[in-house]
Amino acid sequence: MDSQTAAAKVIALTEDLNKFNKIYYTHHSSVISDYEFDMMLKELQALEAQFPELLKADSPTQRVGGTITKEFPTFEHKYPMLSLGNTYSSEELADWVARVQKGLPDQTVEFICELKFDGVAIALHYEHGELVRAVTRGDGTKGDVITPNAKTIKAIPLLLKNADKLPSAFEVRGEVFMPREVFLALNKEREEAGDALLANPRNTASGTLKMQDSSVVAARKLNCYCYFVYGEDLPFETHEESLEFLKQAGFHVSDTWKKATTFEEIIDFISHWDEARKNFPVDTDGIVIKVNSFAQQQELGFTAKSPRWATSYKFKAENVATQLLEITYQVGRTGSVTPVANLAPVVLAGTTVKRASIHNANEIARLDLHEGDFVFVEKGGEIIPKITGVSLADRKPEAKPIQWISNCPACGTELIRNEGEANHYCPNTNGCKPQILGKIEHFVQRKALNIENLGPETIEAMYNGGLIKNAADLYTLTKDQLLQLPNFKEKSADNVLKGLEASKATPFERVLFGMGIRHVGATVADKLAKHFKNIDAISSASEEALLQAPEVGEIIAKSVTAYFSEEANALFVSQLKAAGLAMQVIEKEVVSEGEALVGLTFVISGVFKCFERDDLKAKIEANGGKVASSVSGKTNYLVAGDGMGPSKLEKAQSLGVKIISEDEFLALIGQ
Ligand code: IVH
Repeated sequence: MDSQTAAAKVIALTEDLNKFNKIYYTHHSSVISDYEFDMMLKELQALEAQFPELLKADSPTQRVGGTITKEFPTFEHKYPMLSLGNTYSSEELADWVARVQKGLPDQTVEFICELKFDGVAIALHYEHGELVRAVTRGDGTKGDVITPNAKTIKAIPLLLKNADKLPSAFEVRGEVFMPREVFLALNKEREEAGDALLANPRNTASGTLKMQDSSVVAARKLNCYCYFVYGEDLPFETHEESLEFLKQAGFHVSDTWKKATTFEEIIDFISHWDEARKNFPVDTDGIVIKVNSFAQQQELGFTAKSPRWATSYKFKAENVATQLLEITYQVGRTGSVTPVANLAPVVLAGTTVKRASIHNANEIARLDLHEGDFVFVEKGGEIIPKITGVSLADRKPEAKPIQWISNCPACGTELIRNEGEANHYCPNTNGCKPQILGKIEHFVQRKALNIENLGPETIEAMYNGGLIKNAADLYTLTKDQLLQLPNFKEKSADNVLKGLEASKATPFERVLFGMGIRHVGATVADKLAKHFKNIDAISSASEEALLQAPEVGEIIAKSVTAYFSEEANALFVSQLKAAGLAMQVIEKEVVSEGEALVGLTFVISGVFKCFERDDLKAKIEANGGKVASSVSGKTNYLVAGDGMGPSKLEKAQSLGVKIISEDEFLALIGQ
């Protein structure tokens, strides 16, 4: 490709990718698949590698991370990062408004009401329109420089629009957060991989910003709302204008703010959002009220800790007190032990609560829980309510502190705690009933071997009846054995056998996921399978070799080698092999079906009825066609599925590329 064509291509890809990024962080959803996005990004990366002069500071390739930071340097804030005063009732808020008014005698005061986003504060330093530094709050005076991590957040502009018209240096303050859905999906993935669950989106965002590997940060899909500008000779006089300025310059500003001129209007804003926040995709813990005029802000000034011209109003988290009846312990499939607080039933936010999660032994110690304590239970961003405190006044003097257990509640084995981990584990992996049952349930789930008609009760009955000791034993079950199970009739027995037989066609990556290796979720299993191709290569791989696979870090590599070094697991794998399960990836060969598409280039977009994307691609190639990742002058056909990206459509239309449906495509190849 000549450099002129490359330059045009780089601009087009950059524009498209930046547009998709923007849609993603403003609507919290995407219009193209991750696969398509990655393919376009790879194409851009390749072009930038070939023509380094085309690499721009705001290229989407600069957001994929890859920098490893061992220790973050500290930076002294030019403008200290203050906290805000809190108010908890309309009376307290009325007092604050009265104080503001008293400080500005005979002046009309306007307020800007904003949501108080529950994330981590960040300071973004721009020089000549370019992001030069991102700093955490730290102690308010100095914070950590985490620029490589901040650059992975797509809502943070790397290069500002109209930089020549902007002040040469200024600082933007905002809140980095993890949208609730991203958090829930991340936790689901962790649960499936047997990793400890994360407590809430805020702590997760905060922990993520401090990670050493920025490519992991990039994968975590953080987002950021900006809400303040600091600098000298700024070209505006009110907070409202500064928000408008931020938006114009390309920052992500939440459109939820509102101007209020009376106390009643502030209260209306609060009442509206106290309810509406439940459907807002980001956790909020209150609202922030700021005096609009900068001149008035200056006149009011600061106390030692916070500005007098702004305050926050905290939403009341729904909270009740109830008695702690007992702590029980659950043992998960990987042996992790989780305490659960059993509570006297109480109604909280419309539902009856009987249990609350306590994450681990540290949490019991932090709360200093005693037997029979009255505890405060709160429903915040989390689905399961949590214990936020103890009513010391209600504690009986003879109440004993809750003692953490030293042995597994299921099998009695002494628990262990790995260095640096908060959770305790039962090491009796292959002999502890809840671990065995959990592993079998994991094996049969939809995302793994997808064996139907095998619920937890059936699995437990099979185990109790001595029919199975692990998931591989399922494949040795006979109809007679199944008929001995409670509630099993001819039909249900046949169904289970049919489900088992059908599962033998499961692709290797899902069999690998089904084995339940700690830290190996569906995505990692997929990467391992594609990298090593078969089970023998994986089971004999050294830690160093494992680290070469994409998405595999030290923890995963250690966990994989530990798994295969155990004799019981090696035996289990050979049982699975003997049962006829796939132990290697099937490479899709291009078997020619014809030459109907020779010389034609296709772009595919969206979701299809009859095809997975890869299959459609294979079909095109099998008929002699080529598949490209983005629409260009060379594209002959855009095969459009459901939910196709709007920019692809627009581009295809503007270039006069033929847009065809899946059916029309099949007609092209005469099928
Ligand atoms: S303005 C001097 N606006 O709340 C004013 N802060 O308790 C600085 N926060 O550290 C803050 N949403 O992390 C402001 N719309 C908003 C906010 C907000 C969340 C956080 C921020 C700050 C803390 C203050």
